[in-house]
Amino acid sequence: MVPSSFVIVAILACAFGFVEANYHRKSCVVKGGQSKDIDDGPAILHAFKKCGQHGRVLFEPQTYYVNSVMNVSWLKDVDIEIHGTLEWSTDIMYWLNNSMEVGYQNQSTAFIIGGDDVRINGFGTGTFNGNGDDWYKWIRQQKNTSNYPGRPHALTLSHLTNSAIHGLRFLRSQMWTMSIIHSHNVVLDSIFINNTGNSAQSSNTDGADTIYSSHIIFNNWTVYNGDDSISLKANSTDITISNCKLSNGLGIAIGSIGQYKDQFETVERVSINNIDYENTLHAFYVKTWTDDQNGYPPNGGGGGLGYLSGVKVTNLKATGLRGAAFAVSQCTRFSGAPGVGNCTNSQFQIENVAIENLSGTTQSTRVASLQCSAVAPCTDITIADVDLHLANNTEANSYLCGNVMSPTGFTCTGDVCVGGSATGEC
Ligand SMILES: *[C@@H]1O[C@H](CO)[C@@H](O)[C@H](O)[C@H]1NC(C)=O
Ligand SMILES: *[C@@H]1O[C@H](CO)[C@@H](O)[C@H](O)[C@H]1NC(C)=O
Ligand SMILES: *[C@@H]1O[C@H](CO)[C@@H](O)[C@H](O)[C@H]1NC(C)=O
Ligand SMILES: *[C@@H]1O[C@H](CO)[C@@H](O)[C@H](O)[C@H]1NC(C)=O
Ligand SMILES: *[C@@H]1O[C@H](CO)[C@@H](O)[C@H](O)[C@H]1NC(C)=O
Ligand SMILES: *[C@@H]1O[C@H](CO)[C@@H](O)[C@H](O)[C@H]1NC(C)=O
Ligand SMILES: *[C@@H]1O[C@H](CO)[C@@H](O)[C@H](O)[C@H]1NC(C)=O
Ligand SMILES: *[C@@H]1O[C@H](CO)[C@@H](O)[C@H](O)[C@H]1NC(C)=O
Ligand SMILES: *[C@@H]1O[C@H](CO)[C@@H](O)[C@H](O)[C@H]1NC(C)=O
Ligand SMILES: *[C@@H]1O[C@H](CO)[C@@H](O)[C@H](O)[C@H]1NC(C)=O
Repeated sequence: MVPSSFVIVAILACAFGFVEANYHRKSCVVKGGQSKDIDDGPAILHAFKKCGQHGRVLFEPQTYYVNSVMNVSWLKDVDIEIHGTLEWSTDIMYWLNNSMEVGYQNQSTAFIIGGDDVRINGFGTGTFNGNGDDWYKWIRQQKNTSNYPGRPHALTLSHLTNSAIHGLRFLRSQMWTMSIIHSHNVVLDSIFINNTGNSAQSSNTDGADTIYSSHIIFNNWTVYNGDDSISLKANSTDITISNCKLSNGLGIAIGSIGQYKDQFETVERVSINNIDYENTLHAFYVKTWTDDQNGYPPNGGGGGLGYLSGVKVTNLKATGLRGAAFAVSQCTRFSGAPGVGNCTNSQFQIENVAIENLSGTTQSTRVASLQCSAVAPCTDITIADVDLHLANNTEANSYLCGNVMSPTGFTCTGDVCVGGSATGEC
């Protein structure tokens, strides 16, 4: 129901020849408790409930303390303006007990945002501070440090459509910064992420992961982190990554994929353009599980089906790459059996991938390390216009291959290492 006074105002506005976009919107200013001991979660949820549909939710330039999970999945035509900082608590036991299911790989999250026509603006200052230092220290003391059950992502975009996030900053995310699942037509622009730990080195702090999502644009991201800079997982299609600066992480990843036995998953139509890498392991890499199932997700799995197809990676600049610029490993097998299993039996196929125009410096002599499956060899792979130099100015010129059919733009110079890997090379 639209109150009649608003209708009158709208009619008057039109009559006078102007339309003030937000004029008739309900606005809610979130009131923070200004203390770590006061959980602002309920106040934030209250504001979203009142103004999350056809309204505006405003975070003031102050720190909001979030001590509890938030699931805001029903937004509709809303402007969310974040001028301050949301800071998450470090009660690790609380989060392990209460973080919410993401819906893939038994991953979990602290904050879910979903809905349609959602516009979030951080104006370059709005910040999500995951307070990850405590998590980074704590995870080092655990046995399974990779995907610890209940360790939350900072933010999950779930069932989010026709939406945009601009100018938001993320500091020291608890685990992955952003998971994007069942989401379509979303623009993520001018996002700054710094997951560098102050005391312990951060691990498993991906910049973003896409799952069951399509038409997602990542533009102008700056990511300092300790894992995949951005990773495209199961059923990610029509994804664009452009104008980004990625530091210290592993580079842009496809996968891991093929983790769920007999499930058919694809990654298709990916465009990556104009990326600056600084001290990353790779520029671009692909990791698939083998055909042998070993345990279950999050840390075990294998035996999945599907393909990666239609990837164009162009105009890359690298400084101090730590490994092969372009890597494929079809031998991911985290848990249980690191020494056994067959690295060339994956049924997941890698096809139609083109990498063109990559220059800069590297610490590795390898331009490419392509460990493909014998059952489903890599086909239609192009690598062209590469000008990578080592510190002594020698050109990096090795292209190591296994099961690569008719490479284009390059010649394989040797055999690739074949062995278990979660990071692209062994
Ligand atoms: C976590 O859950 C367990 C089991 O339900 C309970 O015993 C424990 O008190 C909870 N811890 C916290 C910090 O909530
Ligand atoms: C989040 O809330 C929505 C709607 O209320 C619900 O359907 C969904 O199951 C919730 N998600 C989680 C992980 O609790
Ligand atoms: C992962 O979640 C599924 C349910 O979605 C559950 O059956 C399974 O036990 C979980 N695995 C682990 C290792 O927690
Ligand atoms: C990881 O460790 C936790 C705590 O020890 C345990 O409950 C969980 O089952 C482990 N998960 C895997 C996949 O190893
Ligand atoms: C890119 O994002 C940064 C924040 O990381 C911002 O300062 C800069 O203005 C953005 N550039 C453009 C062209 O929008
Ligand atoms: C990232 O965070 C680390 C740790 O606080 C800090 O030393 C570094 O300067 C930050 N980097 C940027 C680009 O803000
Ligand atoms: C993933 O995509 C494949 C191919 O389009 C489809 O068969 C499969 O059902 C999708 N999986 C999920 C969980 O949506
Ligand atoms: C190659 O990429 C760089 C950016 O890294 C760009 O400046 C240059 O124009 C590109 N060259 C061509 C031929 O497209
Ligand atoms: C691995 O699997 C492939 C495909 O089934 C087979 O050709 C190869 O002999 C196997 N290798 C080993 C070491 O078992
Ligand atoms: C340059 O460094 C590489 C890697 O350390 C080494 O293999 C190569 O021999 C060096 N070349 C020269 C000319 O010193």
